Amino acid sequence: MTEKDFLPNAYANLPARGKVKWKAPSNIALVKYWGKRANQIPANPSISFTLDACATTTSVEYTKKEDISQFSFDLFFEGKPKEDFKPKILTFFERIEEYLPFLKKYHFIIETSNSFPHSSGIASSASGMAALALCLVDIEKSIDKGITDTFFLKKASFLARLGSGSACRSVKGDLVQWGEHKGIAESSNLYGVDYPFRVNPVFKNFHDSILLVHKGQKQVSSTVGHNLMHDHPYAERRFAQAHDNLDKLKKVFESGDLEEFVNIVESEALTLHAMMMTSMPYFVLMKPDTLQIINKIWNFREETNVPICFTLDAGANVHVLYPESVKEKVTQFIQDELVAHCENGHYICDRIGSGAKKLIVHEE
Ligand code: PMV
Repeated sequence: MTEKDFLPNAYANLPARGKVKWKAPSNIALVKYWGKRANQIPANPSISFTLDACATTTSVEYTKKEDISQFSFDLFFEGKPKEDFKPKILTFFERIEEYLPFLKKYHFIIETSNSFPHSSGIASSASGMAALALCLVDIEKSIDKGITDTFFLKKASFLARLGSGSACRSVKGDLVQWGEHKGIAESSNLYGVDYPFRVNPVFKNFHDSILLVHKGQKQVSSTVGHNLMHDHPYAERRFAQAHDNLDKLKKVFESGDLEEFVNIVESEALTLHAMMMTSMPYFVLMKPDTLQIINKIWNFREETNVPICFTLDAGANVHVLYPESVKEKVTQFIQDELVAHCENGHYICDRIGSGAKKLIVHEE
């Protein structure tokens, strides 16, 4: 499919008003997306586990309006008006208007909330943009009844990507791949796809305990971070490595080889941070506690043979990944050894989830 395939047919009738509501999960990348071209096209393919507990719920109420010269919306975050989120939404509306030309015809009331604590240092852009995109395509579906379920999900992922790249991996599926890759025929730069190959059951109920090392604002926004990959001395090699790691993961997903899984996932996390340390300007986004956690995970794995590993986003928090079979041992280890490195002892127990869900709207 090309971008043009997401342009809609002319709308026949626009409903006067309505309301839709969706809950979309966050996701954690195993092969990282870092670097992009114009129009949110990823510089390399990525793959992520969809999370379950960490999610954003968004409702959008729409009412037809007279003045169609500009966008109009009110935004509430956790029940309160939130002016500082508005510019991001406005930019999103501008980017997606050609694909949803009804946007200026309505006034929207957008209410959004996260399941995870605000300023936990967990990026809400993936779940937030996915939930909003799903609501907006759902409105389009009530205008154009011919939209199929498959197209609906693709378009939601396509639009979510224009809000935040990784958001396109938060729409459907437990293991989601995004970005063209020769080994995956259905892969696309435009939207995420359900990983199409066999996945060993060991990966079906993986856990992700998110250790909140630093709850403040991210030191480097992902927009700035992606841009640092332009003119980066190691960029091309890194992009090629992501392709190689996807090929390697294909075998791992099939065989259930956790040792190799650990190697690839930890190497990806450290490479992401290495890219930031070797860009100009350069950044160190790990904190001393991040490194102490990593060392403790390595020691624990060495001593016990329990197959746990870590991954990192563009920040100091640590995602601890492990299979269901070692849940008790790892929970104990986290309590005994790792919680001390978390800000105020906070961490979130999450696990692999299955994707976004539509929620029933209760009319007030
Ligand atoms: O979706 P963005 O633009 O916020 O970028 C996210 C980048 C990482 O989280 C660091 C990696 C990834 O693939 O999710």
